[in-house]
Amino acid sequence: MAYFFEEPSHTFSEYLLVPGYSSADCIPANVNLQTPVVKFKKGEKPALSMNIPLVSAVMQSVSDDKLAIALAKEGGISFIYGSQTIENQAAMVARVKGYKAGFVTSDSNVSPNSTLQDVLNLKEKTGHSTIAVTQDGTPNSKLEGIITSRDFRVGHADMNAKVSEYMTPFAELITGKDGITLSEANELIWKHKLNSLPIIDEAGKLKYMVFRKDYASHEEHPLELLDSQHRYIVGAGINTRDYMERVPALLEAGVDIMTLDSSEGFTEWQRRALQDIHAKWPNAKVGAGNVVDADGFKFLADAGADFVKIGIGGGSICITREQKGIGRGQATATIEVAKARDEYYAKTGIYIPICSDGGIVHDYHMTLALAMGADFVMLGRYFARFDESPTNKLIVNGNYVKEYWGEGSNRARNWQRYDMGGASKLSFEEGVDSYVPYAGSLHDNVSMSMSKIRHTMCNCGAVTIPELQEKAKITLVSQASINEGSAHDVIVRNTSLRAE
Ligand code: IMP
Repeated sequence: MAYFFEEPSHTFSEYLLVPGYSSADCIPANVNLQTPVVKFKKGEKPALSMNIPLVSAVMQSVSDDKLAIALAKEGGISFIYGSQTIENQAAMVARVKGYKAGFVTSDSNVSPNSTLQDVLNLKEKTGHSTIAVTQDGTPNSKLEGIITSRDFRVGHADMNAKVSEYMTPFAELITGKDGITLSEANELIWKHKLNSLPIIDEAGKLKYMVFRKDYASHEEHPLELLDSQHRYIVGAGINTRDYMERVPALLEAGVDIMTLDSSEGFTEWQRRALQDIHAKWPNAKVGAGNVVDADGFKFLADAGADFVKIGIGGGSICITREQKGIGRGQATATIEVAKARDEYYAKTGIYIPICSDGGIVHDYHMTLALAMGADFVMLGRYFARFDESPTNKLIVNGNYVKEYWGEGSNRARNWQRYDMGGASKLSFEEGVDSYVPYAGSLHDNVSMSMSKIRHTMCNCGAVTIPELQEKAKITLVSQASINEGSAHDVIVRNTSLRAE
């Protein structure tokens, strides 16, 4: 006879946190959101932790190199989507690892023979008023000088005059040598009162520009997540089909962490993939999933998963439950898997981090997931709304929106994610193609969300995530109290403050 769970499964919206005692030290500024990403033995430190408990979903419409850099600056990790060629995915990883905060490849360049009109045209196109003058006008050829819009007066100068007549020539420029650190570059910028500093190699070729204004932006990211060589940490999604080719390419590109990306991970395919990868590349870190119960967790833990992802059918673009009747309420799944993780830890002394993936709508859902035992959360819709996500920004019905589509939609056709060992194709859709409201920059939104988590944790008397997991008091709520939770019995006036 089939097994019946005794309790119905619940979603995050059906729960609330009940405050605990907050001491005078329990203030948002003292909250530390550091959290482990990969498994570790009792008494040891995990090989990889994050400074905020957020990762971005393995999706075409969410995680590319641009979003990965923006999220690593805030202290989290992106898992660059795997539903693309191995070469393209590895190139995205390499771009994140090659990105040097504060060092930018010059995007506005002219040659000494260009005209002042060319300079004006370029300024209009890029919006940048500092333009590098290189031998052939390309970003990395020999640096000949710098020209800015302050070097000539429009209306007075002949717009057909050559750049070489108006630029500050190389001999008069202060430059930095390739290999200097950002703080050394900033020292030069401040000492010589510069707005920008060209960085050149031994042959005098332009490598990067460092801008004074970027210094402030670098300062804004005290939690940025860096490896031992000061490069941003980045993840990538893999599948159970081509991992023997994909994994070495990603490792070569410098990937820090990978995850098997599947709608359902309690399978022989995931066990084989984990074992093959760990046998061939013992230092590679690989998460697995998704599962929604203790059996699924134990299976992946025994198979060697470095972390386990939870969630089936809860994603905002997901129609798996409608299509196949498979899934479980995300809160219940998280609670049960967290319990299994704690039992596994007590028995083996190995702590395997768990990630609640999908279905996070409000910021407080993140705090609930953490309080229920998740070490971090994976989000798709949340990140898709930001400037840095890879998709188009459009106006629909007078509002700015961004495109957001599921990996199981006809648009992405990521059949490997829904693969149950049959033909290499997507048999039917398990996701939709949609719009999400545009929400601005990742930095502004993540800062706000983390601020809310910090405040809520203080309400619960906790300044770390493990402390929250130990102290949180969580209650199920009735439908009537859910209604009571938003503004009610008043006529709401226009407000820009919306629950997130
Ligand atoms: P969201 O944060 O609620 O938008 O959920 C994102 C999560 O949904 C992802 O991390 C995946 O686990 C899952 N997902 C992505 N694409 C699909 C799909 O097409 N169908 C079902 N689930 C999906």
